Amino acid sequence: MGNRDSYQARCRAKAEDLRRRGEALILSVESSCDETAVAVVRNGREQLANAIASQIDTHALYGGVVPEIASRMHVEAIDPLLEAALAEAHVTLDAIDAVGVTYGPGLVGALLTGVSWAKALAYAMDVPLIGVNHIEGHVSANYIAHPDLEPPFVCLVASGGHSHILNVTRYGEYELLGQTTDDAAGEAFDKVARVLDIPYPGGPLLDRLADAGDDHAYKFPHPHTQGKYDFSFSGLKTAVINQAHNLRQQGVEIDAKNFAASFRRSVVDLLVDKTLAAARDTGAKRLAVAGGVAANSLLRSELQGRGERAGLKVFIPPKNLCTDNAVMIGSAAFYRLMAGETAGLDLNAVPALRMIGV
Ligand code: KG4
Ligand code: ZN
Repeated sequence: MGNRDSYQARCRAKAEDLRRRGEALILSVESSCDETAVAVVRNGREQLANAIASQIDTHALYGGVVPEIASRMHVEAIDPLLEAALAEAHVTLDAIDAVGVTYGPGLVGALLTGVSWAKALAYAMDVPLIGVNHIEGHVSANYIAHPDLEPPFVCLVASGGHSHILNVTRYGEYELLGQTTDDAAGEAFDKVARVLDIPYPGGPLLDRLADAGDDHAYKFPHPHTQGKYDFSFSGLKTAVINQAHNLRQQGVEIDAKNFAASFRRSVVDLLVDKTLAAARDTGAKRLAVAGGVAANSLLRSELQGRGERAGLKVFIPPKNLCTDNAVMIGSAAFYRLMAGETAGLDLNAVPALRMIGV
């Protein structure tokens, strides 16, 4: 048996032992887009370290993520982040039971950096490797933030690349209730922000600008979709951008605060309407939210308020667990491990990876 085969055999045995004990200290890695992150998570629920290096300032110079630059910056950031995470968790590598890593969806070069690094580390440490779907990671941020949350629950996942409404039936099992038929919610925020000359990524800054605006000042269309719980943001985004161009052509000054507030209101109403309808129709008792757009202040307050009025218990992670991080990957990796799922050293990046079971 080659070294590689014996590693795989030893890891299968180790993974089985961890599964039987129901415990694992996981070192996790996230590098799918413009954040490099390494975390240490105990038993899928407890964050011991959350080390993160954002590349946003660099990509902002170009108005968006430049994939080649992202990959290079991940390579530079990842080793120091490992040191920082171990120091923060007060553990050494010997204590780590398994390595979890995002293998998709995301930018291929960026993902490959984390996947290759995680494979090398798991092999050198002789511990199991676990591949994690980034979207499942976002959902799992809720397990870190809310120790009492257990499936089943309905979860809205809204990020820069994805917008889904999921029914989380059990750990690691998902039913797709609805999704965007075109752009993701975060993408729409970023593109509309650009028209208002807000630098990349526009979502968080547009959100802050909107806080001081009147959300009735501008009227935008309500997009219609075929699926009852599906979203469409492309039509809304185009209508909003066209309205800005038309007003400027007519020499009418745009009130950026009001414009941002009106747009934010349209997106949030759409997300919350569909999510609450899906929760009601599936008889859900619990509602969670995840992904970068879940950091949006209006989305958070509307989901909380309207969700509770609809009789739901609402779970919203803190903002730093909504945007990309490795803690959420460590939690998702734990539940994959407990389901007996480990990866081989042939794990590859899958840029267009779909949601498991979806
Ligand atoms: O989940 P995430 O960090 O990365 C992806 O997996 O895509 O999400 C990033 C997206 C960006 O589009 C960003 O503009 C958006 O989330 N975002 C926000 C806010 N914070 C981040 N959008 C609206 N309001 C925010 N406060
Ligand atoms: Zn993300």
